[in-house]
Amino acid sequence: MVAKLDSLSSSEIRALQEEVLHWKQKKGALILAHNYQVPEVQEVADFVGDSLALAARAREAEADLIVFCGVHFMAETAAILAPGKRVLLPDLEAGCSLAESITAEELRAWKQQHPGAVVVSYVNTTAEVKAESDYCCTSSNAVRVIQAIPEDREILFLPDMYLGAYVASVTGRKLHLWPGECHVHAQIRPEDLRALLDQKPGAEFLIHPECGCSSSCLYFAQEGALGEHKVHILSTGGMLRRARESTAREFVVATEVGLLYRLAKENPSKVFVAAQPEALCPYMKRISLPKVLHSLQQEVHEVRVPPEIARRARRALERMLELR
Ligand code: 13P
Ligand code: SF4
Repeated sequence: MVAKLDSLSSSEIRALQEEVLHWKQKKGALILAHNYQVPEVQEVADFVGDSLALAARAREAEADLIVFCGVHFMAETAAILAPGKRVLLPDLEAGCSLAESITAEELRAWKQQHPGAVVVSYVNTTAEVKAESDYCCTSSNAVRVIQAIPEDREILFLPDMYLGAYVASVTGRKLHLWPGECHVHAQIRPEDLRALLDQKPGAEFLIHPECGCSSSCLYFAQEGALGEHKVHILSTGGMLRRARESTAREFVVATEVGLLYRLAKENPSKVFVAAQPEALCPYMKRISLPKVLHSLQQEVHEVRVPPEIARRARRALERMLELR
């Protein structure tokens, strides 16, 4: 039976964290956590990062057991890149609306309409979709991946249409875009940014390319409507780097609100404001400390990928890691 975190005091949370650390050591496990995880889970992780960094960290893991605090496609990616290791996901319901927006069957039908096209899949896809792809990418390296493809090749980009539109605009390449979106980022609209642009004249704007506002932001920039504001379209890992390196004191952050914990922790003298405070991923939030403990103790729930799918998906993922 897994305890409910809301009802726990801070000393109970600390006790649970100690237990997790005890079991982690006892099992020789590695705990990986995405930047959107709740703070108490981030605190027990060996490594916290964006999807690209987590994939790379899983590939070089020495531990035989990996507890993945993130969503299902990320745990699958870890299982594909670290064959022979066991990858556990503390809650199998931690899915992703974006990954669900295209199936392998739909992709096969799309490919038939464009014979010879290169397929670039965002890492937020199922293993079956990755197996049908030539390249994977994340928001950190999508531009580099597209630039690595010869100019005369037709490209199918999936499933995030906002990331695709952003990459097309930066690279000047014509991409066929799948009309998928992440329901969390899609709700961060241009109106959210417009209001904050006026209210916070000195702030820097950090925007995730999955956001519904990212294309209009590029348009605003081209039109000169952003004035003196500095706007950066970045992955969550890129936002953390920018916040560390920038001399600005205030930042408007357009992504899932879980990132604000790490931004504030690493930059105590700077102020971070969520562009849309309701941008909360219900899938990422399914992972809780009691579930992490349960997962370690009982060695559940293992995420497995059938070997033939894994073999084909690994090619596309290795290309993604080569273009880091
Ligand atoms: P990154 O961590 O790669 O920026 O991706 C964000 C995301 O939405 C993952 O689901
Ligand atoms: Fe998927 Fe969006 Fe949640 Fe990321 S934030 S895991 S893309 S639903």
